[in-house]
Amino acid sequence: MCKPLGLVAVIVLISACASLEKMQHSEQPSLAQAYLPHFLMGAAIDEDSYKTHEALLVRHYNSLTTENEMKFEHMQEVEGVFTFDTADAMLDFAEQHHMAVRGHALVWHRQTPNWVFVDDSGKVVDRAMLLQRMQSHITEVMTHFKGRVDYWDVVNEAIMDDGTLRTGEEEAEDQRSQWYAILQEDYIAEAFRMAHAADPEAKLYYNDYYNHLPARQDAIYALLKGLLEKGVPIHGVGLQCHLRMVQAQDPSHEAYYQSPENLEKAIKMYASLGLDVQITEMDVSVYEAGKTYTPDTFYTPETLGPGPIELQSKRYGEFFAMFRRNSHLISSVTTWGIADDNTWLSEFDSGRQDFPLLFDLEHKPKPAFYRLMEF
Ligand code: G3I
Repeated sequence: MCKPLGLVAVIVLISACASLEKMQHSEQPSLAQAYLPHFLMGAAIDEDSYKTHEALLVRHYNSLTTENEMKFEHMQEVEGVFTFDTADAMLDFAEQHHMAVRGHALVWHRQTPNWVFVDDSGKVVDRAMLLQRMQSHITEVMTHFKGRVDYWDVVNEAIMDDGTLRTGEEEAEDQRSQWYAILQEDYIAEAFRMAHAADPEAKLYYNDYYNHLPARQDAIYALLKGLLEKGVPIHGVGLQCHLRMVQAQDPSHEAYYQSPENLEKAIKMYASLGLDVQITEMDVSVYEAGKTYTPDTFYTPETLGPGPIELQSKRYGEFFAMFRRNSHLISSVTTWGIADDNTWLSEFDSGRQDFPLLFDLEHKPKPAFYRLMEF
């Protein structure tokens, strides 16, 4: 008798905590509501976070992106075997709460299983075989999600920092694109044509990072313009917007260029082509770009202090002011995660905790959140 009663008590306690969290959040002004006149407010979710962060999502967001669960390796890890269950459950949640959905990402050089590029004997496949595999993947996935995904990142990260196309020859292995190595540049156009054929209603995006860098801006603009001139079906461009702290005064420093003005230039350039713009993966790391950190200089919740969090709030504020100024060109702004207890930035560099989002480790609004509500 004692055990089931104990269990009941735990369940009651958990539901009480969940309701308390919901109540606390329902007292906050809603981000999505405040930004309704401007653009959709999105968050990237993973297979757990849409449950663990439900109260925040429902209160503050009206658009969702699956962080990893719709990538090639999740959809088709083994050739011909498609696994949709996890993503389906996430989209059920989005539908239940009337949220828009961004599908991320169909063709990318990362998180794509090796079988895609080789035959049974391990030999690199030819052009015809890779196009057939690309078509089968795009068609199966988009047909399955037809009517449930509003925007698709069809091609992700095809450009390098110097403005050249990402090839199969990049120095670092994880930077190489086998898509390009086998199909050359027109893998991009082919992917968009296949996507449009699979779901003519879906809005199709090209997505990339570091759009503040002049060389990237020019190259992405030229790529998009070329696609449009060839009549390739493309509707928009996604700017990822992974930001760091800026301290550098030196224009050659990577961090120098991450300013609202530089990103605004990219937004205006791309939009001048008649494309929709979405900010697709925003976060603001508390670390400076280009600076080396060692474990003794990593921030912890205890050592973080108000300095970086205030600077972060200022950065969010300045970028969002620019987004609002350009809201006639921007249809959604998505943060890459929800709260600081679940961010790719803390997962990547083992041991280096980051605090890049609008809600803290306990899901409470941070100064950046309040800054975004002041306008
Ligand atoms: O799922 C496995 C898990 O089973 C295993 O135990 C664990 C051990 O490392 O790894 C888990 O997979 C990790 C996965 O994230 C889920 O956490 C992968 O190793 C890790 O590589 C993967 O990282 C993702 C990264 O893309 C991969 O390129 C990040 O979560 C995800 O946020 C990040 O997202 C990208 C966008 O798609 C494109 N733009 C840049 C952005 C940030 O890098």
